[in-house]
Amino acid sequence: MKILVTGSAGFIGFHTSQALLKRGDEVIGVDNFNDYYDPQLKRDRNAILEKFANFKLSEIDFSDLASLEQVFKNEKIDKICHLGAQAGVRYSITNPFVYQETNLKGTLNLLEMARHYQIKDFIFASSSSVYGGNTKVPFSETDAVDHPISLYAATKRANELMAYTYHHLYGLNCTGLRFFTVYGPWGRPDMALFKFTRLIAQNQPIEIYNNGRHSRDFTYIDDIVDGVVKSLDKAYPYEVINLGNNQPVELMYFIECIEKALGKKAQKQMLSLQQGDVEKTYANISKAKKLLDYQPKTDIQSGIKKFVSWYQDYYKNK
Ligand SMILES: NC(=O)c1ccc[n+]([C@@H]2O[C@H](COP(=O)([O-])OP(=O)(O)OC[C@H]3O[C@@H](n4cnc5c(N)ncnc54)[C@H](O)[C@@H]3O)[C@@H](O)[C@H]2O)c1
Repeated sequence: MKILVTGSAGFIGFHTSQALLKRGDEVIGVDNFNDYYDPQLKRDRNAILEKFANFKLSEIDFSDLASLEQVFKNEKIDKICHLGAQAGVRYSITNPFVYQETNLKGTLNLLEMARHYQIKDFIFASSSSVYGGNTKVPFSETDAVDHPISLYAATKRANELMAYTYHHLYGLNCTGLRFFTVYGPWGRPDMALFKFTRLIAQNQPIEIYNNGRHSRDFTYIDDIVDGVVKSLDKAYPYEVINLGNNQPVELMYFIECIEKALGKKAQKQMLSLQQGDVEKTYANISKAKKLLDYQPKTDIQSGIKKFVSWYQDYYKNK
């Protein structure tokens, strides 16, 4: 199979590409290495992918239709795995237009390419943020998701609806995966685990939003990759599926695990709830179990340990 992976230099795109390359698929990676966070981290992930003979990078912006179409003209793609996006809930409050360009226009460009180049299978990243401020837990795919509380969440919900339309009109097989707070080695510097680890390691205070009353269904990267690869293989006609851990973790316990892994105490600065933030996420994963034989395997303590040891190794010479 030749699979186009967007966001291949990103956290989840990198790990997914690596898994596909290891099992012998060809991967055409698409990434623009933007500076939303340190582009060197993206370059370093990409350097690992470049070691595989079955990997090829297209360094383009997928919101630019002409350059995206060039990739589809040059390569005979079998499946699309669309993981590239402008991520981040808080950033969408201050930078709304990049979400329009990348998440709305960019995703439309990819759907159009799938339609015109007869690529039937389209797997894409949605997010647990579509559940907004829902209080009924665990979050289930049949719950109403009409009240997103950040523009990021609104674009992800829009992607699910756009994909449905392309499924309906052109028979594309589309699966939207609602990821729940993904973490692990090579993770994102804008996310809590990375930020807290860096600050604690450097003896700087950490800011704890909502006075620590958050809880998150943290999901280890290997479990997410397993769900993504299985979705690519199954290619259901149209599904939206939660990929979570089904075990919400309280923020204060999460911080304790980081302190333990680092062997250092955090200096804590308590702050109020931030705009766009949801208080709790908790995934019902029965659909993923049933349709994808998905079974998350990594608990939070061992996942954080793996992240911290990657972090210490990666930054030891930098
Ligand atoms: N990490 C999580 O916890 C999480 C949770 C829910 C959903 N998601 C979704 O999963 C997907 C992957 O997230 P991630 O954590 O790997 O994020 P990431 O930011 O690490 O990866 C996204 C990649 O896409 C690239 N990209 C962005 N805009 C682009 C454009 N216009 N053209 C080409 N490349 C572009 C970036 O350079 C980056 O390498 C995203 O769709 C994100 O919204 C992630």
